Amino acid sequence: MSEAVELDPIESKLWITTTINGAKGTHLVEQRMTLADFLRKEIGLEGTHLGCEHGSCGACTIILDGKAVRSCLILAVQADGAVVETVEGLAPKGELTQLQEAFHAHHALQCGFCTSGFLMSLTARLREGPIDTEAEAREALSGNICRCTGYSGMVEALLSLSNESNEDGAR
Ligand code: FES
Ligand code: FES
Repeated sequence: MSEAVELDPIESKLWITTTINGAKGTHLVEQRMTLADFLRKEIGLEGTHLGCEHGSCGACTIILDGKAVRSCLILAVQADGAVVETVEGLAPKGELTQLQEAFHAHHALQCGFCTSGFLMSLTARLREGPIDTEAEAREALSGNICRCTGYSGMVEALLSLSNESNEDGAR
């Protein structure tokens, strides 16, 4: 993230440049707009969901400069110069990641409202290393809330990845 945002004298908005799912672009944004609202309303990436809007549920999780973050707690202007990944960027050509395939195979979602947040949190986590035990799986899931309480399927999905590929759980 950079500090080099520029104030538009007429609009009282700020110009930011971000790379979103591999596409670099410059946008004029309201100073107080959250990154979640920016992604959903300005960029049209509505796969990032909003639940609590105060940092508790994890539904709005995206990856910002390699780290899973809650986009409802971050201003869009803070993403100036950053690399943003959203759930839409996981399968840009329709080819699901191993994690998405595992979610599908193990029925790891019910209504699906929480799913994009879980996928982004777990994608960031799996880049750090495999999840080999149920305790590790539950720890990895602990920052996000599923209102349908569909955690068992997600645990099974994560452990199936460990069984299938300990070295490349996420791609
Ligand atoms: S909507 Fe951001 S944490 Fe709940
Ligand atoms: S599947 Fe419904 S909130 Fe998680």
